[in-house]
Amino acid sequence: MPGMPQRKSARRGIPFGRAIAAAVLSTLALVGGARLLGAPARAQDQEDPRHPRRHFRIEHPASLTGVGAQAIYRRIRDDMIAGYRLSGVAYADAYRHWPRFNRVPYLSAQHGERYINNYANETARAYGRFEAAGVMPVGSILVKDSFAVTESGDVFSGPLFAMEKMPRGFNPPGHDWRYTMIMPDGSLFGTTAGEGKARVEFCVTCHNLAGEANDDLFYVPDQYRVRAAE
Ligand code: HEC
Repeated sequence: MPGMPQRKSARRGIPFGRAIAAAVLSTLALVGGARLLGAPARAQDQEDPRHPRRHFRIEHPASLTGVGAQAIYRRIRDDMIAGYRLSGVAYADAYRHWPRFNRVPYLSAQHGERYINNYANETARAYGRFEAAGVMPVGSILVKDSFAVTESGDVFSGPLFAMEKMPRGFNPPGHDWRYTMIMPDGSLFGTTAGEGKARVEFCVTCHNLAGEANDDLFYVPDQYRVRAAE
């Protein structure tokens, strides 16, 4: 029956969703979204406490491997968390004890030179099953920390991105996820239904593309996945 394979490919709509996400992300980068997403400050801004501080400079940034990215992360992680913690948001500090679902920090092509890590709290432990995880329970918190390595090898902290599953009805178009972005200095960029809410609407728009069956989650790219023990 010709309808069958068609339906099958429709169900495998995630790569397509990812392609749209990639397109949206690159557009964002083009229109200055890289700044929105906390791109590193210009050299002259480095002394400004409102901008991310440079940690150090590495050599040969273009040939940085996953192992190299992990080594950088190990050096700067405490500093990154010290910044996020200034937000006063509990998970911005607590996530250091949560399982990480990626082997090494990975560079998202769409995020330019930003390396990221994905963590989930105890309530969200099913995250480690990725596409099989289903709808996350209320109280689930997923966070993604980030750092940037510029072309000249300068290492900067990036923002902390978070998704919290709120009680039903919190924000139906966003499947009740509360999106929050915390800057490297702990300042709040925006949070759904709270301060700076308009600034985080683009999170919902893009995450919606992951689809309801995936509870608006994109998960970790295959080659970096760690299936944490449940
Ligand atoms: C243009 C698309 C896009 C936008 C905009 C976006 N994200 Fe994401 N997000 C992704 C993709 C793709 C992933 C999968 C991991 C990766 O490569 O970053 C992801 C992963 C995440 C995760 C880990 C949970 C998951 O989906 O697997 C969190 C938390 C997150 N994003 C928070 C945010 C927040 C907060 C914002 C807004 C400030 C935001 N995202 C904006 C595409 C987007």
